[in-house]
Amino acid sequence: MSLSSYVAAPDRYHQMSYRRCGASGLMLPEVSLGLWQNFGDLHPGGTQRAVLREAFDRGVTHFDLANNYGPPYGQAELNFGRIFAADFKPYRDELIISSKAGYDMWPGPYGEGGSRKYLIASCDQSLKRMGLDYVDIFYSHRFDPDTPLEETIGALDQIVRSGRALYAGISSYDPEQTTRAAAIADRLGTPILIHQPRYNMFDRWIEDGLVDTCEQQGMGIICFSPLAQGLLTSKYLHGIPEGSRAGMGSRSLAPDQIDRSTLETVAALTEVAKDRDQTLAQMAIAWILRDPRITSVLVGASSITQLDSDIDALNTNPFTEEELVRIETVLAERR
Ligand SMILES: NC(=O)c1ccc[n+]([C@@H]2O[C@H](COP(=O)([O-])OP(=O)(O)OC[C@H]3O[C@@H](n4cnc5c(N)ncnc54)[C@H](OP(=O)(O)O)[C@@H]3O)[C@@H](O)[C@H]2O)c1
Repeated sequence: MSLSSYVAAPDRYHQMSYRRCGASGLMLPEVSLGLWQNFGDLHPGGTQRAVLREAFDRGVTHFDLANNYGPPYGQAELNFGRIFAADFKPYRDELIISSKAGYDMWPGPYGEGGSRKYLIASCDQSLKRMGLDYVDIFYSHRFDPDTPLEETIGALDQIVRSGRALYAGISSYDPEQTTRAAAIADRLGTPILIHQPRYNMFDRWIEDGLVDTCEQQGMGIICFSPLAQGLLTSKYLHGIPEGSRAGMGSRSLAPDQIDRSTLETVAALTEVAKDRDQTLAQMAIAWILRDPRITSVLVGASSITQLDSDIDALNTNPFTEEELVRIETVLAERR
């Protein structure tokens, strides 16, 4: 990687709005960038670097990673680490960088789950891959029913107290698990900063108690897969494009998920978006941010054009009651 000639845009903080993360002192950008599938070996390094630069130039101060992002596992952290060293080192104090452990990462009984052994070893590995002294947020990536919650949350507390992370987070915990986790964390003195659940027009499970729970616990919420991995865009309306997530054989977005009923819904939502003078992707992002309790929308982007367009979602008019009803009607008709 060449030596950096990167100088961040001087006006980067004029372009972005920031929301307070729950009851904490931390602000996060309304749009954050995740490195799940577009920063491994399948996407060109030059594009990765350009997307990260563009994001920061537009005020996206938060980059989200996990131990198993790639492919292969670990590769996104390695690639990010290289780009960070070349471009972002001078800006470390302007960045919120997160990582996680919870899903399978290495063979044997200590390479997945919620044990203290796994979380701490994995956090150390992530720091090494990224070349960082600390991450800003370290998450338990999923609830582990086989590990006492006291152990998992105790490990997050240890990770923060030892200086490996500044804040603790949880991902995809249900409301009851979230309440229990918050109580343990509060007792230990390391409150959970943030919850990271999936949320988009096609997956609204968090409306059924989780958002209220997070509000009660003073936790922020950052929503992943806001575009349902690309389904909530027009890209699949006329087949599966080469180079798209579904077209590249991603395990998380199989072609059979792109069925006729989904495409009919996407087409109908696209009409609503057109009437709002925006793309469906932009409407999907703005729709999530309609609830002020959502701190940030965590997008994935495989190009600068996508990223720019996603951030432009923030420059749109608030939803009218009529538009919200139209969206509800379309979604209710989805079989
Ligand atoms: N905590 C967890 O368990 C968990 C799980 C999943 C994700 N996450 C986090 O959430 C982040 C985002 O998840 P995600 O990648 O599924 O998010 P997403 O934003 O729903 O999907 C990203 C994909 O949508 C497409 N896209 C984005 N903007 C577009 C635009 N303007 N026009 C057309 N297509 C567009 C791209 O598809 P193509 O690649 O086809 O171009 C892109 O790769 C991840 O990177 C990760 O940080 C967390």
